[in-house]
Amino acid sequence: MSEAADAHSAQVRDEFAYQADSFARSPTMSLAETLDVLVDLVPEDAGARWIEVACGPGLIARAMAPRVGSVVGLDLTPAMIEKARADVAAARVENVSFELGDATAIDLPDDSLDGAITRFSLHHIPGPVRVLEEMRRVVRPGGYVVVADHVTDDDGAAAAWHEEIERLRDPSHWACLTPARIAELAGRVGLEPDAEEVVPFAIDYGEWLNRGSGSLVSEDLIERLLGEAPATVESFLLSGAGDERRLNLRNSLHRWRVP
Ligand SMILES: C[S@@+](CC[C@H](N)C(=O)[O-])C[C@H]1O[C@@H](n2cnc3c(N)ncnc32)[C@H](O)[C@@H]1O
Repeated sequence: MSEAADAHSAQVRDEFAYQADSFARSPTMSLAETLDVLVDLVPEDAGARWIEVACGPGLIARAMAPRVGSVVGLDLTPAMIEKARADVAAARVENVSFELGDATAIDLPDDSLDGAITRFSLHHIPGPVRVLEEMRRVVRPGGYVVVADHVTDDDGAAAAWHEEIERLRDPSHWACLTPARIAELAGRVGLEPDAEEVVPFAIDYGEWLNRGSGSLVSEDLIERLLGEAPATVESFLLSGAGDERRLNLRNSLHRWRVP
Protein backbone atom coordinates (compact mmCIF):
# COMPACT_ATOMS: atom_id res chain seq x y z
CA MET A 1 0.00 0.00 0.00
CA SER A 2 1.31 3.52 -0.80
CA GLU A 3 2.04 6.01 1.97
CA ALA A 4 -0.92 8.14 0.87
CA ALA A 5 -3.28 5.16 0.99
CA ASP A 6 -1.90 4.19 4.41
CA ALA A 7 -2.48 7.71 5.69
CA HIS A 8 -6.05 7.70 4.42
CA SER A 9 -6.75 4.30 5.98
CA ALA A 10 -5.40 5.60 9.30
CA GLN A 11 -7.74 8.58 9.04
CA VAL A 12 -10.68 6.25 8.35
CA ARG A 13 -9.83 4.14 11.40
CA ASP A 14 -9.52 7.22 13.63
CA GLU A 15 -12.76 8.74 12.39
CA PHE A 16 -14.81 5.57 12.70
CA ALA A 17 -13.39 4.71 16.10
CA TYR A 18 -14.68 8.17 17.09
CA GLN A 19 -18.07 7.49 15.42
CA ALA A 20 -18.58 3.80 16.29
CA ASP A 21 -21.28 4.36 18.93
CA SER A 22 -22.91 7.48 17.52
CA PHE A 23 -23.06 5.96 14.05
CA ALA A 24 -24.75 2.80 15.30
CA ARG A 25 -27.34 4.90 17.19
CA SER A 26 -27.90 7.49 14.46
CA PRO A 27 -31.55 7.72 13.34
CA THR A 28 -30.24 8.51 9.83
CA MET A 29 -28.88 5.00 9.45
CA SER A 30 -32.19 3.27 10.21
CA LEU A 31 -34.54 5.40 8.09
CA ALA A 32 -36.76 3.57 5.60
CA GLU A 33 -35.10 5.67 2.85
CA THR A 34 -31.58 4.55 3.81
CA LEU A 35 -32.09 1.04 5.21
CA ASP A 36 -35.38 -0.58 4.11
CA VAL A 37 -35.02 0.49 0.46
CA LEU A 38 -31.59 -1.13 0.37
CA VAL A 39 -32.60 -4.37 2.09
CA ASP A 40 -35.50 -4.61 -0.41
CA LEU A 41 -32.87 -5.00 -3.15
CA VAL A 42 -31.58 -8.23 -1.59
CA PRO A 43 -33.45 -11.19 -3.16
CA GLU A 44 -34.88 -13.63 -0.62
CA ASP A 45 -32.86 -16.84 -0.78
CA ALA A 46 -32.36 -18.89 2.38
CA GLY A 47 -29.25 -20.53 0.92
CA ALA A 48 -27.46 -17.40 -0.29
CA ARG A 49 -24.05 -16.36 1.11
CA TRP A 50 -23.45 -12.59 1.16
CA ILE A 51 -20.73 -10.17 2.17
CA GLU A 52 -21.36 -6.66 3.51
CA VAL A 53 -18.34 -4.58 2.55
CA ALA A 54 -17.30 -1.63 4.79
CA CYS A 55 -20.04 -2.76 7.15
CA GLY A 56 -19.46 -0.34 10.05
CA PRO A 57 -21.57 -1.52 13.00
CA GLY A 58 -23.32 -4.10 10.82
CA LEU A 59 -26.74 -2.47 10.50
CA ILE A 60 -27.26 -3.75 6.95
CA ALA A 61 -25.97 -7.25 7.70
CA ARG A 62 -28.42 -7.56 10.62
CA ALA A 63 -31.35 -6.13 8.67
CA MET A 64 -30.85 -8.46 5.69
CA ALA A 65 -30.08 -11.56 7.77
CA PRO A 66 -33.67 -12.96 7.66
CA ARG A 67 -33.64 -12.86 3.82
CA VAL A 68 -30.43 -14.86 3.21
CA GLY A 69 -28.42 -17.84 4.43
CA SER A 70 -25.46 -15.95 5.90
CA VAL A 71 -23.70 -12.59 5.85
CA VAL A 72 -20.10 -11.79 6.67
CA GLY A 73 -19.39 -8.12 7.37
CA LEU A 74 -15.99 -6.65 6.57
CA ASP A 75 -14.58 -3.33 7.80
CA LEU A 76 -11.23 -1.57 8.10
CA THR A 77 -11.92 -0.11 11.55
CA PRO A 78 -11.38 -2.42 14.55
CA ALA A 79 -13.74 -0.35 16.74
CA MET A 80 -16.54 -0.85 14.20
CA ILE A 81 -15.96 -4.61 14.07
CA GLU A 82 -16.08 -4.80 17.88
CA LYS A 83 -19.32 -2.81 17.89
CA ALA A 84 -20.83 -4.96 15.12
CA ARG A 85 -19.95 -8.18 16.97
CA ALA A 86 -21.38 -6.92 20.26
CA ASP A 87 -24.62 -5.71 18.66
CA VAL A 88 -25.21 -8.88 16.66
CA ALA A 89 -24.61 -11.02 19.76
CA ALA A 90 -27.03 -8.87 21.78
CA ALA A 91 -29.65 -9.22 19.01
CA ARG A 92 -29.03 -13.01 18.94
CA VAL A 93 -28.69 -13.06 15.16
CA GLU A 94 -26.79 -16.24 14.36
CA ASN A 95 -26.16 -16.13 10.61
CA VAL A 96 -24.05 -12.94 10.66
CA SER A 97 -20.33 -12.63 11.49
CA PHE A 98 -17.74 -9.86 11.17
CA GLU A 99 -14.07 -9.67 10.15
CA LEU A 100 -11.48 -6.92 9.82
CA GLY A 101 -10.61 -6.34 6.19
CA ASP A 102 -10.11 -3.92 3.32
CA ALA A 103 -12.85 -3.39 0.74
CA THR A 104 -10.20 -2.81 -1.94
CA ALA A 105 -8.51 -6.19 -1.31
CA ILE A 106 -11.10 -8.70 -0.07
CA ASP A 107 -9.46 -11.81 1.33
CA LEU A 108 -11.80 -14.31 -0.37
CA PRO A 109 -11.52 -16.44 -3.52
CA ASP A 110 -13.13 -15.49 -6.85
CA ASP A 111 -16.81 -16.47 -7.33
CA SER A 112 -17.14 -17.60 -3.69
CA LEU A 113 -20.37 -15.75 -2.76
CA ASP A 114 -23.90 -15.16 -4.05
CA GLY A 115 -23.99 -11.44 -3.30
CA ALA A 116 -22.07 -8.41 -2.07
CA ILE A 117 -23.56 -5.23 -0.64
CA THR A 118 -22.29 -1.90 0.66
CA ARG A 119 -23.83 1.37 1.84
CA PHE A 120 -22.33 4.84 2.45
CA SER A 121 -18.80 3.59 1.82
CA LEU A 122 -17.74 4.53 -1.72
CA HIS A 123 -17.38 8.21 -0.74
CA HIS A 124 -14.78 7.25 1.89
CA ILE A 125 -12.54 5.24 -0.43
CA PRO A 126 -9.97 6.61 -2.91
CA GLY A 127 -10.51 4.94 -6.29
CA PRO A 128 -13.93 3.44 -5.47
CA VAL A 129 -13.82 1.45 -8.72
CA ARG A 130 -11.52 -0.91 -6.81
CA VAL A 131 -14.35 -1.73 -4.39
CA LEU A 132 -16.76 -2.56 -7.23
CA GLU A 133 -14.05 -4.65 -8.87
CA GLU A 134 -13.54 -6.64 -5.68
CA MET A 135 -17.27 -7.06 -5.04
CA ARG A 136 -17.68 -8.35 -8.58
CA ARG A 137 -14.68 -10.66 -8.25
CA VAL A 138 -15.91 -12.47 -5.12
CA VAL A 139 -19.49 -12.93 -6.41
CA ARG A 140 -20.27 -15.90 -8.68
CA PRO A 141 -21.70 -15.40 -12.18
CA GLY A 142 -25.45 -14.79 -11.83
CA GLY A 143 -25.02 -13.31 -8.34
CA TYR A 144 -25.74 -9.74 -7.17
CA VAL A 145 -23.75 -6.63 -6.33
CA VAL A 146 -25.76 -3.99 -4.44
CA VAL A 147 -24.55 -0.47 -3.61
CA ALA A 148 -26.12 2.60 -2.01
CA ASP A 149 -24.41 5.90 -1.38
CA HIS A 150 -25.39 9.49 -0.80
CA VAL A 151 -24.46 11.43 -3.86
CA THR A 152 -23.51 14.87 -5.10
CA ASP A 153 -24.56 17.08 -8.01
CA ASP A 154 -23.50 16.94 -11.65
CA ASP A 155 -22.85 20.68 -11.49
CA GLY A 156 -19.17 21.30 -10.69
CA ALA A 157 -19.62 24.36 -8.44
CA ALA A 158 -22.32 22.63 -6.41
CA ALA A 159 -20.26 19.43 -6.05
CA ALA A 160 -17.08 21.33 -5.01
CA TRP A 161 -18.97 23.33 -2.36
CA HIS A 162 -20.66 20.16 -1.04
CA GLU A 163 -17.32 18.31 -0.90
CA GLU A 164 -15.64 21.01 1.19
CA ILE A 165 -18.37 20.86 3.80
CA GLU A 166 -18.28 17.05 3.95
CA ARG A 167 -14.49 17.01 4.42
CA LEU A 168 -14.55 19.67 7.12
CA ARG A 169 -17.16 17.72 9.05
CA ASP A 170 -15.48 14.29 8.56
CA PRO A 171 -11.79 14.29 7.56
CA SER A 172 -12.07 10.67 6.34
CA HIS A 173 -14.54 11.73 3.65
CA TRP A 174 -12.97 11.29 0.21
CA ALA A 175 -15.43 12.24 -2.57
CA CYS A 176 -19.15 11.83 -3.14
CA LEU A 177 -19.99 10.43 -6.58
CA THR A 178 -23.02 11.16 -8.77
CA PRO A 179 -25.54 8.42 -9.67
CA ALA A 180 -24.20 8.47 -13.24
CA ARG A 181 -20.61 8.09 -12.06
CA ILE A 182 -21.49 5.08 -9.87
CA ALA A 183 -23.23 3.49 -12.87
CA GLU A 184 -20.24 4.25 -15.09
CA LEU A 185 -17.74 2.66 -12.69
CA ALA A 186 -19.91 -0.45 -12.41
CA GLY A 187 -20.04 -0.69 -16.20
CA ARG A 188 -16.27 -0.41 -16.30
CA VAL A 189 -15.87 -3.54 -14.14
CA GLY A 190 -18.43 -5.43 -16.22
CA LEU A 191 -21.45 -5.39 -13.90
CA GLU A 192 -24.87 -5.53 -15.60
CA PRO A 193 -27.56 -3.08 -14.41
CA ASP A 194 -30.57 -4.76 -12.79
CA ALA A 195 -32.24 -2.04 -10.66
CA GLU A 196 -31.53 1.64 -9.99
CA GLU A 197 -33.28 4.32 -7.96
CA VAL A 198 -32.51 7.69 -6.35
CA VAL A 199 -34.34 8.17 -3.06
CA PRO A 200 -34.41 11.56 -1.31
CA PHE A 201 -34.03 11.55 2.47
CA ALA A 202 -34.00 14.22 5.17
CA ILE A 203 -31.95 14.10 8.37
CA ASP A 204 -31.37 16.16 11.50
CA TYR A 205 -28.62 18.68 10.70
CA GLY A 206 -27.27 18.91 14.27
CA GLU A 207 -27.03 15.14 14.66
CA TRP A 208 -25.20 14.87 11.32
CA LEU A 209 -22.79 17.70 12.15
CA ASN A 210 -21.89 16.48 15.63
CA ARG A 211 -21.33 12.86 14.57
CA GLY A 212 -18.29 13.93 12.52
CA SER A 213 -15.07 14.66 14.45
CA GLY A 214 -14.37 17.68 12.21
CA SER A 215 -17.26 19.56 13.76
CA LEU A 216 -15.16 20.00 16.92
CA VAL A 217 -12.77 22.34 15.09
CA SER A 218 -14.62 23.43 11.95
CA GLU A 219 -18.20 24.19 13.00
CA ASP A 220 -17.85 27.94 12.40
CA LEU A 221 -16.36 27.48 8.94
CA ILE A 222 -19.04 24.94 8.03
CA GLU A 223 -21.73 27.41 9.12
CA ARG A 224 -20.17 30.10 6.97
CA LEU A 225 -19.95 27.86 3.90
CA LEU A 226 -23.54 26.73 4.35
CA GLY A 227 -24.54 30.37 3.86
CA GLU A 228 -22.66 30.46 0.55
CA ALA A 229 -24.38 27.60 -1.31
CA PRO A 230 -24.32 27.87 -5.12
CA ALA A 231 -27.83 28.24 -6.59
CA THR A 232 -27.31 24.97 -8.50
CA VAL A 233 -27.14 22.71 -5.41
CA GLU A 234 -29.74 19.92 -5.37
CA SER A 235 -28.14 17.06 -3.44
CA PHE A 236 -27.20 18.79 -0.17
CA LEU A 237 -29.90 21.29 0.80
CA LEU A 238 -30.47 22.78 4.23
CA SER A 239 -34.04 23.57 5.30
CA GLY A 240 -35.68 24.88 8.49
CA ALA A 241 -34.07 27.07 11.15
CA GLY A 242 -32.26 26.87 14.50
CA ASP A 243 -32.42 23.46 16.19
CA GLU A 244 -34.98 22.30 13.61
CA ARG A 245 -32.62 22.43 10.64
CA ARG A 246 -32.78 19.47 8.27
CA LEU A 247 -30.35 18.30 5.60
CA ASN A 248 -32.01 17.06 2.43
CA LEU A 249 -29.84 14.47 0.69
CA ARG A 250 -30.13 11.84 -2.08
CA ASN A 251 -29.47 8.12 -1.74
CA SER A 252 -28.46 6.45 -5.01
CA LEU A 253 -29.27 2.72 -5.00
CA HIS A 254 -27.99 0.21 -7.54
CA ARG A 255 -28.28 -3.52 -8.05
CA TRP A 256 -26.23 -5.26 -10.71
CA ARG A 257 -25.87 -8.89 -11.86
CA VAL A 258 -22.50 -10.51 -12.34
CA PRO A 259 -22.37 -11.86 -15.92
C1 LIG B 1 -20.16 5.79 6.78
S1 LIG B 1 -19.64 4.25 7.42
C2 LIG B 1 -20.84 3.15 6.73
C3 LIG B 1 -21.06 1.90 7.54
C4 LIG B 1 -22.10 0.91 6.97
N1 LIG B 1 -21.77 0.58 5.60
C5 LIG B 1 -23.49 1.48 7.03
O1 LIG B 1 -23.92 2.12 6.07
O2 LIG B 1 -24.17 1.29 8.06
C6 LIG B 1 -18.23 3.90 6.44
C7 LIG B 1 -17.49 2.66 6.89
O3 LIG B 1 -16.55 2.33 5.86
C8 LIG B 1 -15.40 1.78 6.48
N2 LIG B 1 -14.31 1.82 5.50
C9 LIG B 1 -13.74 2.90 4.92
N3 LIG B 1 -12.78 2.53 4.05
C10 LIG B 1 -12.75 1.17 4.06
C11 LIG B 1 -12.00 0.18 3.36
N4 LIG B 1 -11.07 0.51 2.46
N5 LIG B 1 -12.26 -1.11 3.62
C12 LIG B 1 -13.19 -1.48 4.53
N6 LIG B 1 -13.93 -0.60 5.22
C13 LIG B 1 -13.72 0.71 4.99
C14 LIG B 1 -15.22 2.64 7.71
O4 LIG B 1 -14.39 2.01 8.67
C15 LIG B 1 -16.67 2.80 8.17
O5 LIG B 1 -17.03 1.81 9.09
